[in-house]
Parts: sequence; C-alpha cells; structure tokens
Amino acid sequence: MAILEVLKFPDPRLRKKCAAVKEVTPELKKFAEDMLETMYSFKGIGLAAAQVDRQIRLLVMDTRPKENGEYKLEEMTELERQVPMPFVIFNPVIVRKEGKTTYDEGCLSVPTYYETVERFNLVEVTGLDINGKPIQVTTDGLTAICVQHEIDHLDGKLFIDRLSPIKSIRIKNKIKKFGYPDPSQPQDEEELEELLADQEEHRL
Ligand code: NI
Repeated sequence: MAILEVLKFPDPRLRKKCAAVKEVTPELKKFAEDMLETMYSFKGIGLAAAQVDRQIRLLVMDTRPKENGEYKLEEMTELERQVPMPFVIFNPVIVRKEGKTTYDEGCLSVPTYYETVERFNLVEVTGLDINGKPIQVTTDGLTAICVQHEIDHLDGKLFIDRLSPIKSIRIKNKIKKFGYPDPSQPQDEEELEELLADQEEHRL
C-alpha cells in the first residue's frame, strides 16, 4: 500500500479527461487500494484517479459517518446503507438521476474551500467493482452527492466550476494568487477557527 500525491487546483493535470479501463487487472486493483489508503490518510470521503494523476475512470469512496472510531450507519439513508463500503467503481456511468439537492462540498484538490453545490438527489450508477464484476447501485444522500462530485473529476471538472460565474472566478483567482493557507501557520485567531471548523466538514 502507498500514499499517493493528491494534485491541487490549478494543476492542469486535473483538467484531463479520463479513459475507461478495458479490464480490472491485479495492478489496477492494487492501485484502487492505494487510492483508498490515500483518501483515508487525508480524511477524505471520496477520491478520483484523476486527482492522483492517473487518467482512468476509477473512483473510491467511503461515506460512512464515523464517531470515536465507530461507523454510525444509522445516520445514512436506507439506500446508502445498501451501497458496499468502501465503494470502489471502475467506469462509473450514471444511468438514472432524479430530484435536486444541495451540499457544502469540499475537495482534497481544493483544500480549505467549501461551497454550496447543487446536485441530483438520487442517482443510479453502473460500472465494475474492484474485482471487475459488473455492479449497479442506486443511492441518495451524501453518497449520491459524492459519486457525482467524483465522476466530475473524471471529466476534468471541479466543484468550483459549478458555482455562479462570479463566485467561481473569484475563488480561482484567489487560489492562483495566494495559494492555499497553511493550517500549521494560521494568520490570526479568526482564520485558525475557520480552519478548525473546516476540518470537521467533508472532503470529497
Ligand atoms: Ni474532489
């Protein structure tokens, strides 16, 4: 197992379109496991292969809420609880989408930023599992939001592209100009509080 480097906006490699895999080889299975380890190490709940500089259609997720080292499955919806976790899917395709929902999304590739994004409330997704077996899941809740966020990565798209044009440009310019704040060196008390609060939120 290995912890992989996570690319951060505005790295142009995050904009590449990812290709479907022809077959889930043992090497790809190991790569998916490395992605999971990487995601857990950065306390993320989802990670797309594009974020670790591999342009294949693969995403990994674990949206189970955790408290004191224990999973609190009762906080998940009925449909979410039926999704195998950790969830690994190659070549994910959304075959059904219904309703609308919003969530304050974050991203390991855009650290410390959280913005409200609109997504479909329920999605049905097909693809291949970590063993190359066809799978089909129907989910809503945070798991549905996360799947849509990660599939965006495979198409070179980030959650900050899905904001109003003014907000999107403002955030991108700010990051390009100032980079990301260093959590170990807060500028002032207010910023420190903000950073600590952000760490409690979900990173997709
Ligand atoms: Ni992301």
